[in-house]
Amino acid sequence: MNRNLRKTVIAGNWKMNLAPSGAKTLIEELKPLIAGKDKCEIVVCVPFIDVPSVAEKVKGSDIKVGAQNVHFMKSGAYTGEISAEMLVEAGAEYVIVGHSERRQYFGETDETVNLRLTAALDAGLKPILCVGELLEQRDRGITAEVVSMQTKIALQGIDAERLKRVIIAYEPVWAIGTGRTATSEQADEVCGIIRGVIAGKYGSDTAEAVTIQYGGSMKPGNAAELLAKYNVDGGLIGGASLKAADFAAIIDAAQN
Ligand code: 13P
Repeated sequence: MNRNLRKTVIAGNWKMNLAPSGAKTLIEELKPLIAGKDKCEIVVCVPFIDVPSVAEKVKGSDIKVGAQNVHFMKSGAYTGEISAEMLVEAGAEYVIVGHSERRQYFGETDETVNLRLTAALDAGLKPILCVGELLEQRDRGITAEVVSMQTKIALQGIDAERLKRVIIAYEPVWAIGTGRTATSEQADEVCGIIRGVIAGKYGSDTAEAVTIQYGGSMKPGNAAELLAKYNVDGGLIGGASLKAADFAAIIDAAQN
C-alpha cells in the first residue's frame, strides 16, 4: 500500500453468514478491538437483512457498512431484488459488485456488473468492484487479459470524478475460500496490472489514487506481507472477517 497516495480499506465480506442477532454480537466484539485504528477505513459488507441493524450498531465507531450486491434498476417488477436507493436508506455506504460467487452461481456478466456499478454510483454508494481469474485462466497465462477485460467493461461510462468512489478488489477465484492465497508477488503484480488499466483510461494520477484491494484467503498470518506491497491497498476478507479477533488482527496489520 502507499498511504500517501490512496486510502487503505479493510473490508469484511460476511457472505451468507450471520442473521441480525449474530451480526450484533460480532459488531459488539469488534468495536473495542478496532478503536483508534485510524490508518485504514474499516467496512463490513453484510447480508441485506443485517444492513439496518448493523448501521445502527456501528454508530459512534469507525466501522462503515456495506451490502454484497445491488440491482441495477431503480424499482419495479424484479422479485427478490434490492435497489441502490433502498440500500442507502437502510444505512449502507458501500456495496460489493461483481463478486465471483455472483458471477459463478447467479449468472452475472461483465455487462450486468457495469450496470450495477453505475446504479450504485448514481445512488451515492461506494462500489467495491471485484475482478479475478479462474485457476484455469491463470494456468493458460491469460490472467492479465481476464482482469483487464473485467475492469474495462465494469468501468464503461464511468468518468474520472465518479471513479474516485470506486474501490477495486482483485480476488483470484482459486484463492477464495480455499485456504490457498496468492503470493504477495502475484497479488502485487495483478493489482499493478489493474492499476495500469486505470492509468490507460484515466491517466496515471487517477490510477495512483485508486484503492485496489486483494481478496482470497487473507488472514492474520499473511495480511502484513500482502499489505506491504505497493499495489495492494487493503483487503476484502471472507472467512476471517467472521471472527472479531482475526478481522481485528488484519486491521492491525494495516496500521503499519
Ligand atoms: P475468503 O477470505 O474466505 O477466501 O473470501 C474472500 C472473498 O471472497 C472476499 O470477498
